[in-house]
Amino acid sequence: MGASTTAFFRLGGSRRYSASSSTSVFTLLLLLSSFLIFLKLIDSAVKDVASRTRTVAGHNLEATPWHPFDLDERRLDLSASRIFHCSYLSCLGQSRAAVNPSSSSPPVACTDFFRAIHRDLEPWRRSRVSLASLAESRKYAAMRVVILGGTGLYLDLYYSCVQSRAMFTVWGLLQLLRRYPGMIPDVDFMLDCMDRPAINRTEYDPTATGGPPPPLFRYCTTKGHFDIPFPDWSFWGWPEVNIKPWHEQFKEIKLGSQSIPWHMKEATAYWKGNPDVQSPIRVELLNCNDTKQWKAQIMRQDWVQESNSGFQNSKLSNQCKHRYKIYAEGFAWSVSLKYILSCGSISLIIDPQYEDFFSRGLIAKENYIPISLTNLCPSIKSAVNWGNKHPSAAEAMGMKGQKLMEELSMDRVYDYMFHLLVEYSKLQDFKPAIPPSAQEVCVESVLCFAGDQRRELLEKSSSRSASTAPCTLPPPESL
Ligand SMILES: *[C@@H]1O[C@H](CO)[C@@H](O)[C@H](O)[C@H]1NC(C)=O
Ligand SMILES: *[C@@H]1O[C@H](CO)[C@@H](O)[C@H](O)[C@H]1NC(C)=O
Repeated sequence: MGASTTAFFRLGGSRRYSASSSTSVFTLLLLLSSFLIFLKLIDSAVKDVASRTRTVAGHNLEATPWHPFDLDERRLDLSASRIFHCSYLSCLGQSRAAVNPSSSSPPVACTDFFRAIHRDLEPWRRSRVSLASLAESRKYAAMRVVILGGTGLYLDLYYSCVQSRAMFTVWGLLQLLRRYPGMIPDVDFMLDCMDRPAINRTEYDPTATGGPPPPLFRYCTTKGHFDIPFPDWSFWGWPEVNIKPWHEQFKEIKLGSQSIPWHMKEATAYWKGNPDVQSPIRVELLNCNDTKQWKAQIMRQDWVQESNSGFQNSKLSNQCKHRYKIYAEGFAWSVSLKYILSCGSISLIIDPQYEDFFSRGLIAKENYIPISLTNLCPSIKSAVNWGNKHPSAAEAMGMKGQKLMEELSMDRVYDYMFHLLVEYSKLQDFKPAIPPSAQEVCVESVLCFAGDQRRELLEKSSSRSASTAPCTLPPPESL
């Protein structure tokens, strides 16, 4: 009995044992499948969030309606989990400490063209910038930028910009925050990163509308617009056409220009670019392609072909072989202006309609020769003839153009951004806050979205905390 009881119990025990073992297998399976379902849910949640997250690389954004372009150019091949990671996790470990840089040397005075900041912001001097005026600017903006606490950058992205413009422009802002940590005031501004100005002076004439125009930052303006010029993306690099960050690109061009002495340079005017950009000036320029009759050589740049051949024939440093270099606006202003001026040749600038932030430093017959659009080819020819008759005056003028670009170091580019934002912030009649649909962007998140080629340029153009204070802003021109 004892034995059978024992046996029973043993049996029962082992039965119980086998029952609990099948329970635990069952539990394990249950756990495993819930875990898999959980993973699947997370995965679809991540996919769902990623499919709605707008990014500096252009994910989930349409092209600007006022300047449509081919969205495929942006090459957006990131997985959903990567988009999620870059957008929501990469800024978590950021340090927020804002240390004011200690400056050792006394600040220098900013170049004269910084005065334009006062002129550009004049329309808001009395009426100030309100949230209502920003809401109006939003109609023309690709993004809203909010900077808080001197270190935090928040973006509300509305539209995608062509190629990698948005990424490199935002990178420039992040580098500004690194350069002057804690010194950028709280600001809230609208920015468009396409080419043409939008705030027409006639349509937004304050005496007619009774209010200030909408404030909008972009890369250029005209005499007929209220748009506020801001440094363009190419100062940090332009990967699609193999243009390096400005500090490096300038050095290369200057070195290239010095490899041929003035008297050995071609005694003709040279232009190389893309004439098919809806620019009447560039089309007209094709008619001047005659080195005998007009003393000009006009060459077509085929970017697709260049890209396929590794940019061997479009190196900017090899394009300083002529004493005269022609600048012709494209669809709007052209980033090529600074590379042309860097050559130390005389820049022949055809009646520009657009201004960027530094082109206000150009002085006719001092650092360039103006060319008339209405009398294009003869005007080029007479500039070339003048220079060839006065070689030392011509060389000196070329050097002055190059010097203007040398003075436009990255230090000064950041200083321009700094002063523009400081002056603009003084005009805000509200306290900036993070917009509900905005997202934080930081150095790590931008790098996270960049492929290898972009990352290389971004890293090359990164900035450190400045050891000197910003240059001092000159007062407005007295009227
Ligand atoms: C501004 O708008 C007016 C009227 O709509 C137009 O005639 C003018 O050409 C525009 N100005 C510019 C600079 O586009
Ligand atoms: C300009 O003329 C040169 C020499 O004749 C030629 O090689 C070049 O293709 C011409 N440029 C254009 C844009 O047609």
